[in-house]
Amino acid sequence: MTLVVRGGTVVNHDHARRADVLIDGDTIVAVGSALNVPIGAEIVDAGGCYVMPGGIDPHTHLEFNFMGSVSADDFEWGTKAALTGGTTMVVDFCVPDPGQSMLAAYQDWRRKSEKAASDYGFHMAVTSWSKQVFDEMEIVVKTYGINTFKHFMAYKGALMVNDDELYNSFARCAHLGAMPLVHAENGDVVALMQEALLARGVTGPEGHAYSRPPEVEGEATNRAIMIADMTGVPLYVVHTSCREAHEAIARARASGKRVFGEPLIQHLLLDEGEYANKSWNHAAQRVMSPPFRDKVHQASLWAGLQSGSLQVVATDHCAFTSEQKRLGFEDFRKIPNGTGGLEDRLPVLWTAGVNTGRLTKEEFVAVTSANIARILNIYPRKGRIATGSDADLVVWDPSASKTVSVKNQLSRIDYNVFEGFACTGAPAATLSRGKIAFARGDLRAEKGDGHYVERPAFSPVHVANSTWKHATEPQAVRRVDVTP
Ligand code: URP
Ligand code: ZN
Ligand code: ZN
Repeated sequence: MTLVVRGGTVVNHDHARRADVLIDGDTIVAVGSALNVPIGAEIVDAGGCYVMPGGIDPHTHLEFNFMGSVSADDFEWGTKAALTGGTTMVVDFCVPDPGQSMLAAYQDWRRKSEKAASDYGFHMAVTSWSKQVFDEMEIVVKTYGINTFKHFMAYKGALMVNDDELYNSFARCAHLGAMPLVHAENGDVVALMQEALLARGVTGPEGHAYSRPPEVEGEATNRAIMIADMTGVPLYVVHTSCREAHEAIARARASGKRVFGEPLIQHLLLDEGEYANKSWNHAAQRVMSPPFRDKVHQASLWAGLQSGSLQVVATDHCAFTSEQKRLGFEDFRKIPNGTGGLEDRLPVLWTAGVNTGRLTKEEFVAVTSANIARILNIYPRKGRIATGSDADLVVWDPSASKTVSVKNQLSRIDYNVFEGFACTGAPAATLSRGKIAFARGDLRAEKGDGHYVERPAFSPVHVANSTWKHATEPQAVRRVDVTP
């Protein structure tokens, strides 16, 4: 199948120009003007539109069994929602139960993701430490094409890992050419604060926010950065939500450490006032970790995206219905943590970021697609419109208007945290591997259309990140041997 996207302005993270895009099968074969288009090629009219690399959301939890519930959007509906909103690839978290084999968890995730309508990949979570985990991490990298390992520093008694486990796992990542990711909140302190709040009779959703102040996140972010530096590995901090965490990342980068930060579209736009809403349902629907913050933190996150100290905007799409949230009606600790955003990330960010002048259109491409493709080692196959890249792209109509509403969303949940947000700028069409997945309101992608994307290990040079590299002894001498 040959297709040409004609008459638009191609926008990459570093450049924009008027050009047509010629696609053969699932690959871009030419970008330019006056292309030699074969007779019979399908034409996608991009007049008046930007043609950008499809969004990549590196943080989703689809059909995730978490806190006693399974998130309502599975790989089919999560990825269909993504494509409708201009996102052509998601990276989901494969999370073994503590003690469960990573290999078994991987098989489970491959089975669940067969339904995906868009491309997808996985991060693997390290939820305990043992010789088995040490050994399986190598298989995960070398056989499964997963180059990132997630660590929860919160959720004590469930997924949380301690500092010794972080150190061991980070060092193993360094050895394998993989990168650790952290959910950075001090889980011990959160657990103590939760108990104290309950003892004072605070049971509602506001207790969730009170028990997870910015300091809890700032401390854990600093700690993870230092442990990563001691093991000589880069670090990616997921859902960076506050000034304290952002400043830790910015400081680390300024001192030569390779640390990345990922704000969520929710934290950029929504604030802690949501938890004061008189409706329990409204507040509980917005319970996620880290919680929404005071507006002062939003300004810091925007500044980070503008200055480059934060690199990626994600969603952490982990959608629970109102009924599922009721599990925590009497105890905020039991409200399943998570919100949605896959369908809305791009239009909301364009409206609040590009239309306000905070981000250029090239920066928009950087933070929604190109940066994460580079960080995850799949660039320029993903994240760029260029000859040889996968034909994942979004034809973006900057004048299209759309008001976010539960009434017209694909997500299976019964609310939307961005309800009523008026967007100007939305996808006219989304192409996934050269096929029109969405066009002018019509979803064409089908269950199972997506492919699993392997991500190769990083080169040792990329991983040799520690500031110790400036010390006289070779880094390898200083590194502790973590073989269990
Ligand atoms: O509240 C959240 N973020 N739920 C999903 C799990 C996680 O911590 O990322
Ligand atoms: Zn998290
Ligand atoms: Zn998450």
